[in-house]
Amino acid sequence: MSTADAQRTGKTMLSIRDLGIEISGDASHPVLKGLNLDIPRGQTVALLGESGSGKTLAAYAVLNLLPQVARVTSGEILFQQTDLLQLPAKKMSHILGNQIGMVYQEPSTSLNPLMQVGKQIGETLRLHKSLGRRAAREQVLSLMELVGVPDPRRRYRNLPHQLSGGVRQRVVIAMALACRPDLILADEPTSALDATVQAQILDLLSRLIQDLRMSVFLISHDMGVVAALADRVAVLKGGIVVENGDVRDVLKDPAHPYTAAMLSGDIQGGKMQVATSITQTESAPDACPFLNDCRWARKECRTATPEETIIDGNRMVRCFLHTQTSVTEGME
Ligand SMILES: Nc1ncnc2c1ncn2[C@@H]1O[C@H](COP(=O)(O)OP(=O)(O)O)[C@@H](O)[C@H]1O
Ligand SMILES: [Mg+2]
Repeated sequence: MSTADAQRTGKTMLSIRDLGIEISGDASHPVLKGLNLDIPRGQTVALLGESGSGKTLAAYAVLNLLPQVARVTSGEILFQQTDLLQLPAKKMSHILGNQIGMVYQEPSTSLNPLMQVGKQIGETLRLHKSLGRRAAREQVLSLMELVGVPDPRRRYRNLPHQLSGGVRQRVVIAMALACRPDLILADEPTSALDATVQAQILDLLSRLIQDLRMSVFLISHDMGVVAALADRVAVLKGGIVVENGDVRDVLKDPAHPYTAAMLSGDIQGGKMQVATSITQTESAPDACPFLNDCRWARKECRTATPEETIIDGNRMVRCFLHTQTSVTEGME
């Protein structure tokens, strides 16, 4: 089914088309240059990219919360057929929290340090669902139970700093889920946690995704997190998606050399670990973003990135190794 058809039939929850973002004063190095990404209803789609690759800015664009220095230069973000980029602030604030729930990396981004956590979860409900105090409290307690906050009645009255990091992140997840939104946007939901707690929160998210059949836009630099939670993964490099496919297929057999480098551990903590023998070259603005670290790079990669090519039915890749005319040639 084409993207346009999926939109019309309501099977796509979120569709990011040709999104361009630049930081003011740095127009020659756009952060995103034509990002395409679809999140089908009931699926978890991950945007995987190195640190600094523009993942969080993409999320902020969806929420209409870009920092002042950043500017959308092209594209549309369709949420249930509405272009969020064109939406007036008032309508957007109705959608946030109500139809789109947010889980940020840092609980401190979402939580007010001076308000009891139970009350904070309740605020979202009271704001969007016009619930009375008592009804809201009951719902908050069952939400806290749902996300595995121990002893919810006691924790309800705690301030954020009185909770452990893991419990705080559970509270953030409860807030995001409070209004039963259609879409959850999770930006590095476990990156700030230590390894044991990270595993527990991944278990929780995985269970919620299954039980509530949620549509999730997951943002991560960590293939482990992506593998644990996502159905599909879109690999971001140089402001575009260079590969997009079923997580299992991509893990088993990455199609883009950049994805392969990420999976093999050549890229860790956002940096290329293995020095390549490729001579660094001045490249055209449209050159392949992986040009300088790619062992397959050749002349045409310096001047253009190929269009989106579909392989194996439902995998998209942008690499000359996979364009019809040059498969054999590229393997030389
Ligand atoms: N408030 C800001 N001011 C200036 N530059 C920013 C700001 N936010 C992000 N950037 C720049 O935009 C790029 C993408 O940032 P970000 O979306 O946070 O990356 P990621 O989430 O993938 O780590 C980075 O290179 C960063 O320097
Ligand atoms: Mg980020």
